Amino acid sequence: MKRIVILGSTGSIGTQVLDIVARLSERFQIVGLAANNNIDLLEQQANVFDVSCVSIGSADQAVELSQRLANKTVLCGLEGMCELATLPEADMVVVAVAGAIGIAPTHAALNAGKDIALASKEVLVAAGEVTMALAKDKGCSILPIDSEHSAIFQCLQGAPDNSIDRILLTASGGPFRKSTLEELEHVTPTQALKHPTWTMGGLVTINSATLMNKALEIIEAKWLFDVAAEDVEVVVHPQSIIHSMVQFKDGSTIAQLGLPDMRLPIQYALVYPDRVDTGLPRMGLEAYQNLTFEAPDEVKFPALRIARQCIKSGGTYPAVMNAANEAAVSQFLNSKIPFLSITRTIESVLDRHQSVEPTYDNVIAVDAWAREAVYSSVH
Ligand SMILES: NC(=O)c1ccc[n+]([C@@H]2O[C@H](COP(=O)([O-])OP(=O)(O)OC[C@H]3O[C@@H](n4cnc5c(N)ncnc54)[C@H](OP(=O)(O)O)[C@@H]3O)[C@@H](O)[C@H]2O)c1
Repeated sequence: MKRIVILGSTGSIGTQVLDIVARLSERFQIVGLAANNNIDLLEQQANVFDVSCVSIGSADQAVELSQRLANKTVLCGLEGMCELATLPEADMVVVAVAGAIGIAPTHAALNAGKDIALASKEVLVAAGEVTMALAKDKGCSILPIDSEHSAIFQCLQGAPDNSIDRILLTASGGPFRKSTLEELEHVTPTQALKHPTWTMGGLVTINSATLMNKALEIIEAKWLFDVAAEDVEVVVHPQSIIHSMVQFKDGSTIAQLGLPDMRLPIQYALVYPDRVDTGLPRMGLEAYQNLTFEAPDEVKFPALRIARQCIKSGGTYPAVMNAANEAAVSQFLNSKIPFLSITRTIESVLDRHQSVEPTYDNVIAVDAWAREAVYSSVH
């Protein structure tokens, strides 16, 4: 029986984790759940999965939730998430909150010796070096949930160290793959929130539309698989059937294929190294006679170039890029800036940043600075 805490249990990933746990109830027990605002769903999840400890965004909501959930412990805020992440009875913490807010609870969990199933790629983008070093020091695993990184992880099973030539990170290309720059100027939040393949939370859906999601994933892959960012190549594959590939030094390329359903990579992270029936439909290859691949358009979608520059410059540039992006996306969703200004805003914040050593404290400090820089520049 693996005992699991889910941070972000009410989100797209969190609810799918719970679907899997419900189906494989003989393998898993939920010991903690955290959400931000969705008090009704969190209450329901705590009752259905008989969870004794939960955390919600604010102290006011915690008071209300305590009244609804008699005999359960109700925590709140970032502190609450960190406390959940260190529950003595937990074996694994699923980090599935939207954004860099996941850094502190991930570090709390690692410090307490917990394995991590990681959906929140922003943790490794902003704090990759310190997070991987901490996991190594504490002997903890960080298992990827992101479908591309799960694919790479699966392709690497049994591969000797230093055998990777390059990683081919696939991208759907997002909803605006075929749009012109002129059309991109007028994209509305409603249009950008419609992803062609995946149903996801707001931040990651907009990141998919700007290709920032892929930019973040290059950095995530660099840290997870200890490769140079230049060895991670992005390939646009609109059918989202090949979830990523690894090309080895002998020229052989191994790909992982599957129907686009996040329950597959999520389950792999939960049951690794086992392979267990997902109950999902099987892929019939004859239905996919046109698997296509193309290079990304970095003029229309500058996020990839920005991310590569940030990795090259190192220090706290990736953390600033990530935080500026989260704030700019929020400004776009509130109709304060146009779609193309998301990446322009990020570049302008990066131009003003003085990089420092990417320690835990410095990453948290520059994250706050970058958000403030975006919010104070747009009213
Ligand atoms: N969705 C996907 O298919 C997918 C695929 C690959 C990777 N990912 C990654 O997984 C992460 C989550 O994505 P998602 O699509 O599941 O996002 P989502 O649907 O927006 O869900 C986010 C979850 O985090 C919670 N949350 C947000 N801010 C919080 C805070 N300050 N404190 C506590 N909880 C907080 C939300 O609670 P409330 O519901 O109460 O607001 C919700 O449970 C992202 O990093 C994303 O890039 C997602």
